[in-house]
Amino acid sequence: MRDKILITGANGQIGTVLTHRLREVYGTENVLASDIVEPADSNQPFVFLDILNSTRLLEIINDHKITQVYHLAAILSANGEWNPKKTWNVNLNGLFSILNLGKEGVIKKIFFPSTIAVFGNTTPQINTPQDVPLLPTTVYGMSKTAGELWCNYYHKRYNVDVRSVRYPGIIGHQSIPSGGTTDYAVEIYHEALKHKKYTCFLKEDTRLPMLYMPDAVNGTIKIMEQPTDKIKLRYGYNLSSMSFTPKEIAESIQKYISDFKITYEPDFRQEIAASWSESIDDGQARKDWDWSPKYDLNKMTTDMLENLKNKY
Ligand code: NAD
Ligand code: SER
Repeated sequence: MRDKILITGANGQIGTVLTHRLREVYGTENVLASDIVEPADSNQPFVFLDILNSTRLLEIINDHKITQVYHLAAILSANGEWNPKKTWNVNLNGLFSILNLGKEGVIKKIFFPSTIAVFGNTTPQINTPQDVPLLPTTVYGMSKTAGELWCNYYHKRYNVDVRSVRYPGIIGHQSIPSGGTTDYAVEIYHEALKHKKYTCFLKEDTRLPMLYMPDAVNGTIKIMEQPTDKIKLRYGYNLSSMSFTPKEIAESIQKYISDFKITYEPDFRQEIAASWSESIDDGQARKDWDWSPKYDLNKMTTDMLENLKNKY
């Protein structure tokens, strides 16, 4: 029987692109998008699903004979700080419902995206190893750290086939990020093309790990397609491809738009970014399931500007 996939939070920054790619791979009829906001394209298979409604979740999974869930629905780092209790509730209780369906054998495979926000001030910030002390500073990071531990627990105790990666900041031209600390690295390209200037909410030397969308989407599908014995970790695998500062991304844009100007007005997101890693050791993902990203900063800038230039 062909796998049938449900994506939660499918209309967000990553979901928009991942859904499209999964449909290319598995067929449109086998990939069901869900969210609490309407999709841009109303002709594609979509159901309204608040992840906190576990009854509706089960109904959808039974009705559509879903076998795999990519559980993307979440509230991200910056937005999460405005409503900590809601963030904890959405980010963790939705995951519980899905893990329980895995435990009951209703679904066979689960993808849980974790994040560099699990790291905190006790984590070595340069080339951060896979296994480190985690003391996250945001409620988002706390919820994802707990989520990773629950994934690990459900695998060990109930043999649930759950797979997870710690995405760095994700950058793509197809969709707009919302409520994250790394959002500046997408906004900057749009503003460079629209106004030739950008005011960054982080300081110029704030180095963060980032990943280009095609690598993120390919890596996500790749970990889900591996034979189960290759997946040695059932909490988030570190992923990495590039690390840069706002000043460095601005310089890479200036190679194409020489009169582009960046200014800096750090806000509360500066403190969040400062608690995260600067660069990541993703050796375990490379070793276990052959993770191999293709984009660096300059290659990404070329592709972003090429794809966005017709929009403005
Ligand atoms: P996003 O905020 O763009 O999208 C999240 C989606 O979840 C939104 O469309 C939102 O409507 C939906 N959602 C929120 N509450 C919901 C609820 N109660 N029920 C159902 N849907 C709900 O986020 P994204 O950037 O696409 O991230 C997707 C996943 O990847 C998240 O779990 C996030 O933590 C993780 N992640 C993202 C990044 C990044 O840089 N984008 C980095 C690390 C991890
Ligand atoms: N990009 C995400 C954020 O900034 C990291 O998980 O919240």
